[in-house]
Amino acid sequence: KKVKMILDKDFKIGKVDDRIYGSFIEHLGRAVYGGIYEPDHPEADEMGFRKDVIELVKELKVPIVRYPGGNFVSGYNWEDGIGPRELRPKRLELAWRSIETNEIGINEFVEWAKRVNTEVMMAINLGTRGIDAARNIVEYCNMPEGTYWSDLRKSHGYREPHKIKVWNLGNEMDGPWQIGQKTADEYGRLAKEAAKVMKAVDPSIELAVCGSSNSSMPTFGQWEATVLEHTYDYVDYISVHTYYGNEENDIGNFLAKSLDMDEIIKTVIATADYVKGKKRSKKTINISFDEWNVWYHSREADKKIAPWSVAPPLLEDIYTFEDALLVGCMLITLLKHADRVKIACLAQLVNVIAPIMTEKGGKAWRQTIYYPYRHASLYGRGYVLNAVIDTPTYNSKDFCDVPILESTAVADENNNKLTIFAVNRDQQDSLLLESEIRGFEDYRVVEHIVLENENLKATNTKENPFNVVPHNDGNAMIEDGVLKAILPKLSWNVIRLA
Ligand code: AHR
Repeated sequence: KKVKMILDKDFKIGKVDDRIYGSFIEHLGRAVYGGIYEPDHPEADEMGFRKDVIELVKELKVPIVRYPGGNFVSGYNWEDGIGPRELRPKRLELAWRSIETNEIGINEFVEWAKRVNTEVMMAINLGTRGIDAARNIVEYCNMPEGTYWSDLRKSHGYREPHKIKVWNLGNEMDGPWQIGQKTADEYGRLAKEAAKVMKAVDPSIELAVCGSSNSSMPTFGQWEATVLEHTYDYVDYISVHTYYGNEENDIGNFLAKSLDMDEIIKTVIATADYVKGKKRSKKTINISFDEWNVWYHSREADKKIAPWSVAPPLLEDIYTFEDALLVGCMLITLLKHADRVKIACLAQLVNVIAPIMTEKGGKAWRQTIYYPYRHASLYGRGYVLNAVIDTPTYNSKDFCDVPILESTAVADENNNKLTIFAVNRDQQDSLLLESEIRGFEDYRVVEHIVLENENLKATNTKENPFNVVPHNDGNAMIEDGVLKAILPKLSWNVIRLA
């Protein structure tokens, strides 16, 4: 099969906000305890953080990490995690039915973030708490000194303010599973008042208000409209979340699920712009896609885990090769909306539905999904080009006209680089890609990375951590000014030109 693409230096969608390569660490399962933090591990640093995990995170160049939840945050008292450790309470953690020791709190997490060169995106509790806790946490984190909460931070050993720029106003507040679930009006009112005091304490912060938990929620669309009617003038982003699975073992349908992600993004943009129009506002609300991934492998196993232990092995999806392909398609989808998606967080980062896995006292390794995420983060910075693609399509159980080629390109003009990301969804055939590269005629192929595998269910495990790894033997070349490349069936491709 053959596909034609046209890339033109001047046809730009928008500049990539590096924060779309963000991720997420929740106090959930073994993400924090036994994931980033394991004080008696041979690789632990002086604060108890695993250096092997730090190295794997640094390799991903993660620009921002959302913390501390997730569902967890809706029952969290942030004050439990500050001050002398021996005084911190052990709490019943109701979202994931675990015990929270509070050994790690805001200050320790900020320390870890520095070690991996990332920013913190802080979520506040709008489930059980409200405006008072919201203003206090901003004062504790961002006020330099001279007030109760800022001086308390200093007394805890953190002289400099944490300068946390981006904040989530709660988490998935429409969900019946959420502690303190609210109607759109209840939440919208509360979020607006919380936003007012938070920005009064620190006007430089940015705020993301909760959208729907997922697009199957009965109020999807209406929720966004109502919440934004209340909060439009006070917030900067609306959150979007989605997860996909291949429960039916239907690869064609599974790989098409990024088209659903695309629809969600378009719907939320349209809704935000509808409220903008109604309010005659000059301001544009952008998207923080702060939870996205494949999530389904662990759901049955999780039901069997007994409640009330510290760091139970929850949500430990072991990712397959096919999952990496969908993650690749989802990354391309986010890039194609670079003009409006300004933050995105792969949920999550370590052990919990994560690209990085750890063994207690032992190894850390890269799951299959690590690779497309790493490639996009490393090479997908610059301007997204509006690729014109003429591709064959197929129909699947839930989708019509699924493009066999999912692709986009990012141009980094400062460094004279052009990178094409491409997934071939075809189950039988390789694709011959032919692309005009207008404005890049003097560029040469630097590398053609391919992630492919005969076994769709292949995984990376502790015993076999390099089972699914990319190679750079792709055959992309420029012939008569046209980029030509064979994209193997069911493969993730990164074609780098300079
Ligand atoms: O990422 C796992 C969970 O998924 C989060 O806690 C919640 O926000 C979402 O439902």
